[in-house]
Amino acid sequence: MMSDGHSDQPNLANANDNPANSTSTESPDTTKAAQIQKFLASPVHCKLFVQKLSNNQEYEYRKAEILWVRQTRSNPPGLEYYVHYVEFNKRLDEWVPYARLDFGREIEFPKPDQKKSKGRDATATPPPAKQQQRAGTPSAGQKRKAADEAADDKENAQVVLGGEDEDGETMEVEGDGGGGESTFSKEQEIEKLRTSGSMTQCVSEIARVKNLNKIQMGKHEVESWYFSPYPQEYAYCDMLYICEFCLCYYASHKQLARHRTRCQLYHPPGNEIYRHEDISFFEIDGRKQKTWCRNLCLLSKLFLDHKTLFYDVDPFLFYCMTVRDELGYHLIGYFSKEKESSENYNVACILTLPQYQRHGYGKLLIAFSYELSKVEGRTGSPEKPLSDLGLLSYRAYWQDTIVEYLLSTTEEVTIEEISQKTSITPQDILHTLQNIGALKYYRGQHIICLGDKVIEQWERNRKKKKRVIVSDKLDWKPLHFTPSQLRFL
Ligand code: ACO
Ligand code: ZN
Repeated sequence: MMSDGHSDQPNLANANDNPANSTSTESPDTTKAAQIQKFLASPVHCKLFVQKLSNNQEYEYRKAEILWVRQTRSNPPGLEYYVHYVEFNKRLDEWVPYARLDFGREIEFPKPDQKKSKGRDATATPPPAKQQQRAGTPSAGQKRKAADEAADDKENAQVVLGGEDEDGETMEVEGDGGGGESTFSKEQEIEKLRTSGSMTQCVSEIARVKNLNKIQMGKHEVESWYFSPYPQEYAYCDMLYICEFCLCYYASHKQLARHRTRCQLYHPPGNEIYRHEDISFFEIDGRKQKTWCRNLCLLSKLFLDHKTLFYDVDPFLFYCMTVRDELGYHLIGYFSKEKESSENYNVACILTLPQYQRHGYGKLLIAFSYELSKVEGRTGSPEKPLSDLGLLSYRAYWQDTIVEYLLSTTEEVTIEEISQKTSITPQDILHTLQNIGALKYYRGQHIICLGDKVIEQWERNRKKKKRVIVSDKLDWKPLHFTPSQLRFL
């Protein structure tokens, strides 16, 4: 439990008072004091045990890395530490007071070269510049143009965040050359993100620390998961108030209330292309609805970490899912899709707002993305890398859809045929079949054979009341863009 009477600062009086102890014969107490002192002098990247609230709301000690330190506003001011729990997803990173750090156990100090490469406490250093391995990145021409213009054209600047690949390795960050030591301080870096909208320079530290605690949207209050580059005046609010229809943001409830009296929007902009029961989908062109789409990107960045986020929304279409009631069409989630994907991706980013997660909406968004691919007469796959939750959701969707198709047919089918019917790529089908152990080698050839467990699980899922996409309710033709419309200036 957190200790209450504790000051936020450690008492190092004993260690300081007794310099004689700093010899090889020093007592364990002095060694500990020296460790604490060393930690306090340079806490960033140190690893130590920290109290973390478990699922059953009890504190347990977990190893964590310190990512940042700040002064609290309490009186007298103390220090707070932003920690990443080792082997836990980054969305559980949080600010903790000094009292939750455990100095009883060994502190792991960063290796000197790590310190050098990651920067001193208050500086961030970019990783070596390498071509970023990101699928869905605009073509080289677009990228060059964007890079050329980013400096003086805020409208076209892109927000590029580093991410992790599927193996959990940190991906290289798109850079503009260099690769040497950074000259940016954290403050400069934040400023740069805000003013240029570009995260290409130094993402290493900034993107690791979340800035906003909570957002309020409609009747929901939601804790944020990750950093999002909202403008300076909103960046460190405890709560950001977001208009759930136009996605504009405000620092106080009063400001939002004033805005709501003027705001005319009751649904996302763009065309309603699907309506079934209370669920609708709107198609929004990033080029035509820049502000709305940028607001959406800022909002979704709070919950999407691993990916590059383009502030340059022109090359994307946004498919937004809403639930309707007497007050309007409330945004549940969305996916973005490149107007032209060289890699045949049918989804760039996908998100269910946390207040709606785990109700089957993610699968509904995924189903809708494949419904569009069916109309286009092609297969598609989500842009890589996938997040942990993205992978779980896609695997669940692929498994449901493929098993359903296999059980619905008595004929022999090939992977190619399943692909044609579902618009899932042969590769994703193959991986899914392998994952569920449905690919068998029999008498010299590969066959698809569903095990009893898989069928039982599918039947259990079927009994759950779940929403589905009704193909007939989709009123949509694929948009075609001329080369000049695809030139994003
Ligand atoms: N723990 C365990 N399994 C989970 C979890 C979880 N927290 N969340 C989803 N799943 C699995 C389950 O198998 C679930 O099916 P089930 O409930 O029938 O067992 C399946 O995924 C789908 O669940 P849904 O309720 O349909 O999905 P949800 O509405 O929660 O949305 C999504 C999933 C979009 C990934 C959501 O978690 C999200 O927005 N996360 C943050 C942003 C993100 O990571 N997006 C994906 C990035 S990858 C990309 O953009 C291409
Ligand atoms: Zn509004």
